Parts: sequence; C-alpha cells; structure tokens
Amino acid sequence: MPDSLNPSAKSEGQSRKSDFPIFANNPRDLPLIYLDSGASTQKPQAVIDATSHFYAHDYANIHRGVYRLSQVATHAYEIGRETVARFIHSPSPDSIVFTRGATESFNLLADCLGRSGLIKAGDRIVLTEVEHHANIIPWQMLRDRLGLQLAVVPLMDSGALDLDEFERLLQPPTRLVSFTHISNVTGLVNPVARMVAAAAARGVMTVIDGCQAVAHRPVNVEQLGCDFYIFSGHKLYGPTGTGVLYGRGDLLGKLPPYQTGGDMITTVTFAETRFQPPPQRFEAGTPNIAGVVGLTAAIGYVESLGFDWIVAHEKQLLELGLKRLQTIDRVKIIPVSGDRSGAISFTLEGIHPHDIATVLDDHSNVAVRAGHHCAQPLMQRLGLAATIRASLGVYNDRDCIEALAMGLEQVNRIFK
Ligand code: ALA
Repeated sequence: MPDSLNPSAKSEGQSRKSDFPIFANNPRDLPLIYLDSGASTQKPQAVIDATSHFYAHDYANIHRGVYRLSQVATHAYEIGRETVARFIHSPSPDSIVFTRGATESFNLLADCLGRSGLIKAGDRIVLTEVEHHANIIPWQMLRDRLGLQLAVVPLMDSGALDLDEFERLLQPPTRLVSFTHISNVTGLVNPVARMVAAAAARGVMTVIDGCQAVAHRPVNVEQLGCDFYIFSGHKLYGPTGTGVLYGRGDLLGKLPPYQTGGDMITTVTFAETRFQPPPQRFEAGTPNIAGVVGLTAAIGYVESLGFDWIVAHEKQLLELGLKRLQTIDRVKIIPVSGDRSGAISFTLEGIHPHDIATVLDDHSNVAVRAGHHCAQPLMQRLGLAATIRASLGVYNDRDCIEALAMGLEQVNRIFK
C-alpha cells in the first residue's frame, strides 16, 4: 500500500513532507521551510509520476483520433473531469470546464456573461474588499465595456466582511456577486453558504473564488447552491496551467463561446459555425491534457489524506503559529474575525516585508510571500503597502512554525 494511503502514517501533527521530493532535493544545508502554498503548492511524487507516466505511455491528442492511443488519452482527460465533478460535488461532469488557471476562468466567465445578455448596461456587480486582482479586473473591464456599476462590500476592522452591507447591496440593480471563499491574504473564511443563500433569494447570480479553499476545506457546490465556482489546479498540489470553472448547467448553456478554434464546434462552413454544448464549447484548441491527468492524481492524493486530517492538521499549525508569532517583537498580525484557513499575514513594525522575506530566505531557507499578494485594494484598506504571508500545505509541521519564528527573531536582531 502506498504510504499516502496508509492512515497510520498521517497521525496528528505529522506532516506529509516525505510525499514531496522537493524537500529531499533541497540543495542547501538548511532544510527547506516552504510557507508559500497560497502562491502555489509543491507537488507530491504521485502527481509527478502520473504526469510522466502519461507522457511516457498514454499520450496523444484527445477527442480527435479513432486510434487506441487517442482514446486512452481522451479517457484519461474525461476521467479528470469526472474526478473534479466528484471532488466538488458537481451534479454533472458537464458543468466542469477546464481552463489554464483560475485567472482564465474569471476572464472567460466575465467575457461570456457580458456577451450572453444575462448582464446588461445599468446592472450592478458586487465584489468585496478582500478580492484577488483576478476577481476584480475582469469585472472592471466588463463594467467599462457594458456600462455596469461596480460596488464593493467593505472589510470591517474586526477582519470580517460587512455582511449587512453585503445584504443591502443585493438589492436591484445587482445582477451578480463574486467573492472569495477564503482570502488569499489573511486566511479569512467567508460564510459563503449564507452569502449564496442571501443572493439566491434575490435572484442574484453568485461566483465564488475557491482558489484558496479547495486544498483546505471540503467543497460542495451543490449544497452551496452557487452558480459558478472557480479554482486553479496548482494550488491543489496539481500541475500549473490547470484551472476549473464550475457552472450551473442551465447558465453555462446560455453562455457563448470564449475562445474559438478546434474541438469546440459541431460544424464549420465559411458561412457559419455551430458550437458544441458545454463544457466542450469553452475548451477551444488542444487543452492541457497532461495537466488534467496530474490534477486527477492531485485530487486522488488529497482524498487519500482526507479533509478530516487536513483540517485538523492545519488548525493545529495555525493555532501554534498565531501563538508563537505573538511572542516576537514588532510582529503585528492582520486580524481575522472568526474562521481562518491556510494563511497568516503580518508585518514587523519598521521593517519592509521584502527585507524580511529576503533575510528569512538567506539565513533560514524559509520561503514566504512578501508584497501586496495581488490584492492592492485590500492593502489600501489595511493602510499597508505590503505584508508577509506565511501560508500552509500538508507538508508543513511544527518545525516549520518554529523555523519561521526563529527566522523572524533573527530579522529583528539584524534590523535592531
Ligand atoms: N494568488 C496567488 C497568491 O495569493 C499567486 O500568492
């Protein structure tokens, strides 16, 4: 039985570091302390093996060949769609559109909604103050193209969204709300079920950015009742260049194509083209076939660990991290009210986050992200240019938290 499927190997507090070759291949004398899973997760051997096995044994283009190899590859790709559907509890694999990443999913959705007639001039789109740029700019472009209004739910000083204002903004002319499941900066977990229910009750379409959620919490789109759910594969231990757009079947069916080209048509003449139904309508050209095979393996890997273990392991590390960081001079943690997942953002008073991250890397081999985290409006709200973000994956353990803390104490000594 592979180690990753052996429950005794995942006891409390123990990490899954040995599943990830990057830690054994670390060229430096100090162990690699990777605390940047919010930017991208490392890849388990199971994902690397699945991808290279596919290229070595089963590779061909898909949906095109009658020959055996093409059918094997097509089968592997479509198994990927079924796996994603099962993973997020989509009622049908046809609701799963593969994209090159969450950014492309957002651009596709905004562009197609804008040409579908489902959103019209004068309508309002509501975002929140904690959104990633990928969930802001496509809507801004659509606003400018169609003459829409854009409104923003503010973040309160407590570190939670102002849900009273959210509910107020659901009044007409709001047509769509798009918000993150979990903040990529602070780790704030939004009450998405409550938010979707409030929006649905007023006939407002809902889009959820699940990029920081799918590797940390079980997601059930059917139970949530959201219209669209977006995530990227590379933050779920899968390959880069893979993304997902889940869409409710009836809504996807009303959207025109995004990109056009091979494999998304039924007939083409010089007079006109007829398009496939979803999801193929949205997957023009040769997709990232091997990426989807790797994503399938990544989901298998996450499922083998199980969310009971993932959630408990992460909770333990977050509690430890918050407690330990508070013992360090100059640390100011960005507050989160209520549930937090995956990340802690903080500053060290008087020291630039880029200097902190550079010293952590140089002296301690600790990898964290420093900057605005592609969330400049949130930084403006916090009155900061940048923060340090430590974000977690299944390979982190208590030693990672201690290495970060000791590294920060070293930063304090250097910049005293
Ligand atoms: N969106 C990624 C992050 O938060 C890149 O770091």
